[in-house]
Amino acid sequence: MNRFKPINHDAHLHYLHPNRMRWEHAAGPDELLFLSQALIGDAGQEKKAIAYLYKELSQLAELEMHVATVLCRIVCEMQAERTPLSAGDTLYHALSCFAAEEINHANSFYQYVRHLSGRDIKLTGNLFRERVELYSGNESPLIKLAALCSAAYVGESVITVFERRLKVLDPMQHRFLTQLLHFHGLDEARHIQCDHAVFDDIVPALSVADRQRMHRLIDDTESLNTQLAIASAETVKAAFDLDYTEGNAAARTQLDITLRFREIVQSGDLIRKVDDGIDEDTAAMLTRFSSAPRVHAH
Ligand SMILES: [Fe+2]
Ligand SMILES: [Fe+2]
Repeated sequence: MNRFKPINHDAHLHYLHPNRMRWEHAAGPDELLFLSQALIGDAGQEKKAIAYLYKELSQLAELEMHVATVLCRIVCEMQAERTPLSAGDTLYHALSCFAAEEINHANSFYQYVRHLSGRDIKLTGNLFRERVELYSGNESPLIKLAALCSAAYVGESVITVFERRLKVLDPMQHRFLTQLLHFHGLDEARHIQCDHAVFDDIVPALSVADRQRMHRLIDDTESLNTQLAIASAETVKAAFDLDYTEGNAAARTQLDITLRFREIVQSGDLIRKVDDGIDEDTAAMLTRFSSAPRVHAH
């Protein structure tokens, strides 16, 4: 289990904290033009870009708060586990860092969409209670950890591709969103390592029955997350009186790669790393969008 130990060695040096961002620069004219071109694919689409980001990143904040909440539960439930994995402080530290960072991400994205749009639209139908309830059963916390990581990992992989695309379009990182995703990505690189350790070391050690429970939990999580996505889309479309998906190149690509990644990661008995299942067509698509045929460095 020492694999979890080095992941957070420099976590206190390279991280996103919301106070790091100069929020007053989130919506300048140059920034809005960049968002319109980089996301929608054309100038003059600023309002659509803002609505799209509001929907995706306020929804992401909900997902991150859920991940943090469930990780806290797992850390505490692990106290009762007598396995080599729970010995010492290694896993406790790794999962606590993961949870704390997700709270800072949610806090950052929650603030970002408000500074960007000048609006305060609450996602009242966020299904938080239902999504947390899924993880309140008496199955082993390791099953919950495996399910939670494999659901979070798909979104973390998608946003990694978007971070890379913005850095290709804005290599000097002048733009606010590029900077925000860069700092977010410092933490995400550690979460990906943590996810990979769970997929390599924990999932294969689960019994067949436990893996079936894990897959049921994944399916239930994805199903509630899909309901959250639909409710978020309706809320934001109504608030902006605009269908931000129409003629939106980023939204199209996001949906496409999310479905491909989910299939790669979750469709087998074990959990697969996304780069282990990328076919030629997906590699070509990723290269067109982000100038790289792969997703993760490790
Ligand atoms: Fe995050
Ligand atoms: Fe993450």
